[in-house]
Amino acid sequence: MKKQTKIAPSILSADFSRLGEEIKAVEKAGADWIHLDVMDGHFVPNITIGPDVIKSLRPYTKLFFDAHLMIQPASPYIEAFAKAGADSITTHIELDEVNKNIELVKKYGKKVGLSLNPDTPYEHLLPYLDDIDLILVMTVHPGFGGQKFIESQLDKIQALRQKIDKTGRDILLEVDGGITSETAQLAVAAGADILVAGTAVFKGKDYKKNMNDLR
Ligand code: DX5
Ligand code: ZN
Repeated sequence: MKKQTKIAPSILSADFSRLGEEIKAVEKAGADWIHLDVMDGHFVPNITIGPDVIKSLRPYTKLFFDAHLMIQPASPYIEAFAKAGADSITTHIELDEVNKNIELVKKYGKKVGLSLNPDTPYEHLLPYLDDIDLILVMTVHPGFGGQKFIESQLDKIQALRQKIDKTGRDILLEVDGGITSETAQLAVAAGADILVAGTAVFKGKDYKKNMNDLR
């Protein structure tokens, strides 16, 4: 893995009854960011956490809070996630109000992320490259942890890496879903800057070893 590649543990795979302690534990084990998966049972077939949970987790760490909103619509909730302490707010490009979502995240001074599902062509993102700070490529169909990495997404990661480099802008390329020590190498070789990992970090008890295995 490149030296500067970041690991963002997804708390989706943590013990939900002890989220604050789990965040402290992965911070101690070397996490770079904390990835927060927000699901609404509508855009994706699962329900997780909302802004109040993020707000209550905020005092547990100073690490960057990377909020991934898998909700439709997203715009009515962006202010609440910003005020809860998210540092980046990533919405999905499959939603109707992409421009509105970008503007709202900017308005609240947070890093603007856009995510693409596996079936969404990377070209859909190109019109927004001047307006965003982060691209989140889904390498599983969103909704659940522990799924298998979809290798066909590697071409998309590579294509987006090239487009980002052409802009000369500092847009982070993040990959989410099915990351293991094997797929981490593939994602980084394709150009990923940040790896989201749920199962691979939170399995067993030794989070430090898990993260070292990824690195
Ligand atoms: C899936 C979420 C991911 C998920 C990744 O919808 O967006 O962040 O937690 O989990 P693993 O690493 O187990 O695939
Ligand atoms: Zn996610």
